[in-house]
Amino acid sequence: MSSGFAALCFLLLHTGALGFRILPGSSLSHQEITMMAILNSTVQVCRALAQAEGTDFTFPAQPFTAEAVAVACGEPKSSKNYRQAIIFITLRNIRVDIRHALNGSFHFDEELFVQGRNIITEGIMVVKASNKQGNFESARQKMGEILHPLQDFYSHSNWVELGNKFPNANLIRSDTSIGNLADRNRATCRNCDGDDCRNNILADIIEEKVLTSGYFGVVPFASTKPKGKCSHGGAGDQTSKIEPKGGINKDSFDASHGHLHPDAANLAIAATSWLLEDIRGAAGDRPFLQYETLSACVSCFKEVKGVSSSRSFVSFPPSGCWESPKGPVKRFVL
Ligand SMILES: *[C@@H]1O[C@H](CO)[C@@H](O)[C@H](O)[C@H]1NC(C)=O
Ligand SMILES: *[C@@H]1O[C@H](CO)[C@@H](O)[C@H](O)[C@H]1NC(C)=O
Repeated sequence: MSSGFAALCFLLLHTGALGFRILPGSSLSHQEITMMAILNSTVQVCRALAQAEGTDFTFPAQPFTAEAVAVACGEPKSSKNYRQAIIFITLRNIRVDIRHALNGSFHFDEELFVQGRNIITEGIMVVKASNKQGNFESARQKMGEILHPLQDFYSHSNWVELGNKFPNANLIRSDTSIGNLADRNRATCRNCDGDDCRNNILADIIEEKVLTSGYFGVVPFASTKPKGKCSHGGAGDQTSKIEPKGGINKDSFDASHGHLHPDAANLAIAATSWLLEDIRGAAGDRPFLQYETLSACVSCFKEVKGVSSSRSFVSFPPSGCWESPKGPVKRFVL
């Protein structure tokens, strides 16, 4: 990675220009959104397994932690591995902001709805196929990558502003309509009132439930924003300085549409849960837990004597087997 590009990434990460923040703070970040959804889905699976086996299940206290969820699932000793698996997925999610910083398809910017959905649905097929082959490392990698655009949709499009209370189920299906997409030539925004962007989406767009998203660009005076289109907004986005000025993103409380940040974040959590539910349905409950928690090298497990195969969630990777989280941490810090 060139130092210029690294510097740009650093700037983008710190201005939070690209999506939900990727570092924890008072606003919800990609990391927290992903973690909350995975913890919740694990609880659901463990409860379903307990019910099927006729054993008791006690919900962990809110907010869920990896440790408490592992205890609730009857596997306290696997909490470290479980936590690492979650961290690995969230790092692959965050990495999208570095690898694909300026590609709008990965962020549902620039009305690239079809392209964004393709990334998600093609990724879901890869996750399912990898799970089937027992290649959980690949499954987790791809999962992290596709959760990024899935979550960004709620912050970067006007789905929330259109009054939707549930996620867009069509983002995880490939053969359906994503919604009433704005025509390339149709104006969608007007100037904000100074810093107040609460009413900058055109009334006819809201009334007709037309789906749009913000344009984004870091190069001054070289905006590719078509006439009348919304911008992403924020310090790093140069298109938001060109009419119609201001933006619509809900990445954090201090974003252009920061007043809607909690709605966007909650929908992103719910959408993440739906996607996990879809993967779980294809995998089955036990393999799903295995996918969520087991180590990079499944072959190691097969060779270890005495590892319980009845509940793979509990298995311990022999030392040296657990490798997933190392690399990406370093790359993330550039
Ligand atoms: C947890 O998952 C259940 C079932 O999928 C869902 O009904 C619930 O809303 C989820 N809760 C959170 C906080 O995501
Ligand atoms: C953005 O990513 C998509 C999906 O990988 C790819 O097809 C497209 O060519 C990329 N666009 C640019 C401008 O690099």
